[in-house]
Amino acid sequence: MNVKPTLFLYPTTMTSPLGDAVKLPCGLVFPNRFVKSALAELMAGAEHKPTPTMLDVYNQWAQGGWGALITGNVQVDVNHLGTPSDPALQGEYTGKEKNEALVATWAKYAQACQQHGTPAIVQICHPGRQSFRGAGNRGLFVPAIAPSPIPVQIGNGLLGWIVSKIMFTVPREMMQADIDTVTRQFVDAALLMADSGFSGIELHGAHGYLIDQFLNPKTNLRTDAYGGTPEARAKFVVDIIAEIRKVVPSNFCVGIKLNSADHSSSTFEETMTQIGLLVEAGIDFLEVSGGSYEDPKMMSSTQTQKSARTAAREAFFIEFATEARKRYPNLVFMLTGGFRSRTGAEYAVKENACDLIGIGRPAAIDTKFPQLLLDESVPDETAQLLLNKVPAPFYTRFLPAKLIGPGLESAYYGGQLYRIAKGLKTMAPSV
Ligand SMILES: Cc1cc2nc3c(=O)[nH]c(=O)nc-3n(C[C@H](O)[C@H](O)[C@H](O)COP(=O)(O)O)c2cc1C
Repeated sequence: MNVKPTLFLYPTTMTSPLGDAVKLPCGLVFPNRFVKSALAELMAGAEHKPTPTMLDVYNQWAQGGWGALITGNVQVDVNHLGTPSDPALQGEYTGKEKNEALVATWAKYAQACQQHGTPAIVQICHPGRQSFRGAGNRGLFVPAIAPSPIPVQIGNGLLGWIVSKIMFTVPREMMQADIDTVTRQFVDAALLMADSGFSGIELHGAHGYLIDQFLNPKTNLRTDAYGGTPEARAKFVVDIIAEIRKVVPSNFCVGIKLNSADHSSSTFEETMTQIGLLVEAGIDFLEVSGGSYEDPKMMSSTQTQKSARTAAREAFFIEFATEARKRYPNLVFMLTGGFRSRTGAEYAVKENACDLIGIGRPAAIDTKFPQLLLDESVPDETAQLLLNKVPAPFYTRFLPAKLIGPGLESAYYGGQLYRIAKGLKTMAPSV
């Protein structure tokens, strides 16, 4: 396999490796290893475009000392949204000459993110079968689309079945024309972001969204060129990457967020094969996460009290990342989920589990979290942000736990983003 060298480190005066700059194959340099992972802002309103409120949040993150900012997911098709207030592409993008106003709107967003030199990467996504009923312009009874017509099933028993039926449609199996359309939508989204001045895009290939649905044998039962083997299941995303590369500048970053094998039904070896194809396709980094709406491992909570020693292995998917890293030592790995402390982040880098530390929920509480962890005058014991599980109100106890837990976490931290936008103090969840 032809694996190109991708990682160059520039040690700073800090003894901690966390302050090292990381250079991606496209040439983009992250000034340190802390990356704010995607947090859906839910602020794009009915127009599904970046709003002043969104920009207010990024004005804060831009000053936070991050190595890079990954935006919340931007949907590539306004007819298929994850939530009703997602930002989304409204139709075909035909280049900046014909779309000056649109580019100007997105350029303001890029400018807000990158005003202090932090590279910003837009996460682009299609929810596929996980598009909620009514989320998107397609109407309540028009089905979502997916590689195979397998509906989302959250929780067990009759209640789980009823809730899933209300929330999701039975998806329609995608025809070749649908695959071509969605591929073009991903390419349009990437080009719009490049034209708007962003430093790159990240394909959302994790958490049970459309790209993950193709990769995963549980949701992809196809027998055509897009299913049947790990290679065929990867064709959808590999083709998308190839088409994106044809239109964006060579210094534009193309990354992907992917589920770890231990939390999907793909075997580890199958996932390694698929990562190999992504490397050949020329990805700049791979973010490791895990879970889906049916099994929301990415939204696990961390313990409230930890010693520095037990905090070391706090990252949720560290075993997978460490093993995958051995196979693809030159691929830039980002690991997301569970990092709450300098000790945990340093451990992951020193154990060679990853190059980049993805930070989600702590970024919604402390917009300058990297500055705390990189400040050598702060001792390890206090260089952390411990977060309690978001408590569940009593009336939610009858609903599927797999829906309520992640829903509460998302709603709580989404609420903190609004507080950041309004200039209010954020609050860590209390029990
Ligand atoms: C409010 C909220 C919104 C999120 N939105 C996204 C998203 O748009 N795309 C994505 O890939 N992950 C999303 N996530 C998941 C995070 O990127 C991250 O994978 C997860 O929170 C685990 O990291 P953490 O333990 O540091 O929070 C979201 C999480 C939260 C709490």
